[in-house]
Amino acid sequence: NPEVFILAIESSCDDTAAAVLDNDKVLSNVVANQLIHNQYGGVVPELASRAHQQNIVPVIDAALRKAKIKKEQLSAIAFTQGPGLMGSLLVGSSFAKSLALALQIPLIAVNHMQAHILAHFIDDEGKEKPTFPFLALTISGGHTQIVKVNDFFDMEIIGETTDDAVGEAFDKSAKILGLPYPGGPLVDKYAQLGNPKAFVFTKPKVPGLDFSFSGLKTAILYFVQKKKLENPNFVDENLNDICASIQYTIIEILMDKLKMAVKETGIKQIAIGGGVSANSGIRKTLKEAEQKYGWKTFIPKFEYTTDNAAMIGIVGYQKFLSKNFETSAVVSKARIQF
Ligand code: KG4
Ligand code: ZN
Repeated sequence: NPEVFILAIESSCDDTAAAVLDNDKVLSNVVANQLIHNQYGGVVPELASRAHQQNIVPVIDAALRKAKIKKEQLSAIAFTQGPGLMGSLLVGSSFAKSLALALQIPLIAVNHMQAHILAHFIDDEGKEKPTFPFLALTISGGHTQIVKVNDFFDMEIIGETTDDAVGEAFDKSAKILGLPYPGGPLVDKYAQLGNPKAFVFTKPKVPGLDFSFSGLKTAILYFVQKKKLENPNFVDENLNDICASIQYTIIEILMDKLKMAVKETGIKQIAIGGGVSANSGIRKTLKEAEQKYGWKTFIPKFEYTTDNAAMIGIVGYQKFLSKNFETSAVVSKARIQF
């Protein structure tokens, strides 16, 4: 293939990210985290848009510089169209449109959720890629989905959360335990030192392949309140065991539905994506499932699994090959399915 250089921009939530790809290889992948939200215990949309405006030019400059590519060499600009926070999306899309117009190169709109899934097709030093069809489990602070991926742009959501996302379940549980936001990585850290069977939290009963996590949060809240009446230091004294038990329950919920999805579709290739796929317990359980159930699992590199622009770039590359371009009238969409 002739060399295609794509500049990709991701600004759907609280991270401003830019990447440059040479065909399916990542030359640079830059992310500016907005730490400002931590003190509010969650993403504040107004602050996110403002930070994107401050970060976008330096982040894109850094991505081009690290890739050693001049903007005149770019073949196209890809940006996240949605889903996400409207004010955040607008910063990325307006910038992408302007730059594409100025350089007179094609503009490519990318669905953020498709990008989390197609991140597996980034050329990562010969790392094996899934083949179609496969199942994708997308787990992050904003999403929880099981997707049947028939082809690059032929995907069906076969299960999703009816309330909170998995990442929220981690973060809200952590908050109940008095841990700072985002608590997911801390729950993971303490869980590694605890007994996963120390405490039992009931799993929700949700029909089919859908998920529910809001009941778990309530169960943990009541459990902690009750235990604290008996012993005010209960959480501090049992933090590792509580975290291990919460994580165990969340993994069981995910695994139950994955097993059901494999049974229903007959597909045994499972690819995970989204920030929660960094969780060590989930990674370990999926690796074990290869032996236990004969599955083949795909876990991307950490930098391609949390919100990043390289994943937007790989979708941009696929769309470039099929000349799937947009006019400058394309609009951002806070909510889109595939
Ligand atoms: O994909 P992501 O970076 O952003 C979006 O939400 O789109 O995911 C962030 C989420 C947060 O809820 C965070 O707590 C969770 O991923 N997370 C983890 C771990 N690392 C990040 N949850 C559990 N264990 C982890 N190691
Ligand atoms: Zn995401």
